[in-house]
Amino acid sequence: MSASGSIVILTGAGVSAESGIATFRGPGGLWEGQRVEDVCTPEALARDPALVHRFYDLRRAALDTVAPNAAHEALARLDAAWPGELLIVTQNVDDLHERAGARRLLHMHGELRSALCAACGTRRPWRDPLPPATRCPTCGAAALRPDIVFFGEMPYAMERIEAALARADLFVSIGTSGAVYPAAGFVRGAAASGAATLELNLERSSGSAWFDETRLGPAGALVPAWVDSLLAA
Ligand code: APR
Repeated sequence: MSASGSIVILTGAGVSAESGIATFRGPGGLWEGQRVEDVCTPEALARDPALVHRFYDLRRAALDTVAPNAAHEALARLDAAWPGELLIVTQNVDDLHERAGARRLLHMHGELRSALCAACGTRRPWRDPLPPATRCPTCGAAALRPDIVFFGEMPYAMERIEAALARADLFVSIGTSGAVYPAAGFVRGAAASGAATLELNLERSSGSAWFDETRLGPAGALVPAWVDSLLAA
């Protein structure tokens, strides 16, 4: 691919696993401890706001105890060095990509260190616990909620993502099981627009058959090697 090529990178929980953040599905997965329906749906938030807010308060606080790993650092290095278009689309709600220095980044499923007002839609940085019915500084409604895209809600920035996929020369998926749409369908959109597709994952995923190439192994090893090869070419 030429150095002016356009790259879209999709990351999932597997890119943060080696930083000590539990993935969702698989041994010790986050969803093992909780039923998704109990904590990650609008109905759960309405039914038991204290439980849902506490679930995300715990995950937000845990961010103080983890750090970016070699995969996050390699992606930030690529972002800084790549002369063509590049966009990292992460499904993750942790802030490890940004802490590693990534700039051309968007969180399609929201962010732990952000609060969303359910009344006026304002999003704001938030690092502390977020009790239910916290007042929104913008509109005054007691309606701040975790800025997490729940199942059944529309992910953020879909138009920007789809435009980037349509222009991509290379689509790389890192550390995701391909279990959740629309992210699981990005590989097909990119391939339909002529992009080459590469998957870097610990094990084969639900989407592996759609990729030109799948490399199996930990992101902490595969991603730096891939970035080094791309920048050397
Ligand atoms: N290196 C690379 N891949 C890894 C590693 C690792 N060290 N550890 C685990 N993986 C892989 C697993 O093999 C799995 O395919 O990462 C993937 C994690 O899959 P999930 O736990 O399903 O996480 P993800 O794909 O990000 O989930 C997507 O589902 O629950 C919702 O909104 C949530 O964003 C999340 C979405």
